[in-house]
Amino acid sequence: MTEPIVVAEGLRKSFGGTHALRGLDLAVPAGRVCGVLGPNGAGKTTLIRILATLADPDGGAARIAGHDVVRDADRVRALIGLAGQYAAVDEKLTGRGNLRMFGRLYHLSRADARRRADELLERFGLMEAADRQVAGYSGGMRRRLDLITSLILRPRVLFLDEPTTGLDPRSRNEIWDSVRDLVADGTTVLLTTQYLEEADRLADSIAVVDHGRVIAAGTPDELKGGIGDRLDVVLEDRALVGRAGTVLGALTGGEPETEPDTGRLSLPLAGTVRLADVVRELDRAGIDAADVSVRRPTLDEVFLRLTGKTKESVR
Ligand SMILES: Nc1ncnc2c1ncn2[C@@H]1O[C@H](COP(=O)(O)OP(=O)(O)OP(=O)(O)O)[C@@H](O)[C@H]1O
Ligand SMILES: [Mg+2]
Repeated sequence: MTEPIVVAEGLRKSFGGTHALRGLDLAVPAGRVCGVLGPNGAGKTTLIRILATLADPDGGAARIAGHDVVRDADRVRALIGLAGQYAAVDEKLTGRGNLRMFGRLYHLSRADARRRADELLERFGLMEAADRQVAGYSGGMRRRLDLITSLILRPRVLFLDEPTTGLDPRSRNEIWDSVRDLVADGTTVLLTTQYLEEADRLADSIAVVDHGRVIAAGTPDELKGGIGDRLDVVLEDRALVGRAGTVLGALTGGEPETEPDTGRLSLPLAGTVRLADVVRELDRAGIDAADVSVRRPTLDEVFLRLTGKTKESVR
């Protein structure tokens, strides 16, 4: 059996007294998108840097297509592409100029560097802007140029560190389309993100990282299934939302989230509690519900439950 194309085993890395990675395990099968999700300082960039041979781990091991990232760093570099958290393109050059320059840096011949630059500009929709200085590019165009710069050598594994942070929804969609295109071609993508929606839309599997460890991993569906269903209640009288929270919190053992302005509340539903129990308890407390429903949790709620942090507080 061949091992997954990206493997990390017990990775450790400290900076002075800061333990950025504390025994991180990860495996990404070839041809898939893995989303690494975690709050600020969780260790995402450190992980990417080690996998991309830019930093050595203090302990543990990582392999790309079976090659050790420390001992076989040269082999690994020939297989990977990286677009870092901060764009690496040169502002003073044009888009085409950047691609040619990087092509030359990667030891392509002048003719090959030109050809590859044109191919990439064409394929990823930057041809119109190709001869403009990058200084005049929008944030989205810059990130796209940065992304395609990492594709010059046709990497088998692509690392993207927060590829869409700070982009508007349209630019984000364009990056997502580019990533999907690459995966359709067989590229394996490991991306970090703070956007839960991005992970949900793009990733086949998600690793939630906190304090330098993977604290949960699986498909978006598995992660949602792992924390159980959510109960949503809409009250007739929104003044009763606090009381309803107390009643249902006692019934389910879950922490209610209440919206006093709208009279809505939501809470995790433990396995044994049924919808009928909820309706009966509310009735007994003299609280009228306009709507009671059960749904899968959002990835937001999974993240909150696992890391104790909301999506907003991690940005
Ligand atoms: N070169 C460094 N020197 C000192 N400390 C570092 C260095 N790189 C990372 N750290 C620390 O290691 C921890 C993990 O940092 P890392 O950049 O990997 O987090 P991250 O998950 O990428 O965060 P963000 O979402 O903010 O990008 C943080 O506490 C950070 O301050
Ligand atoms: Mg980072």
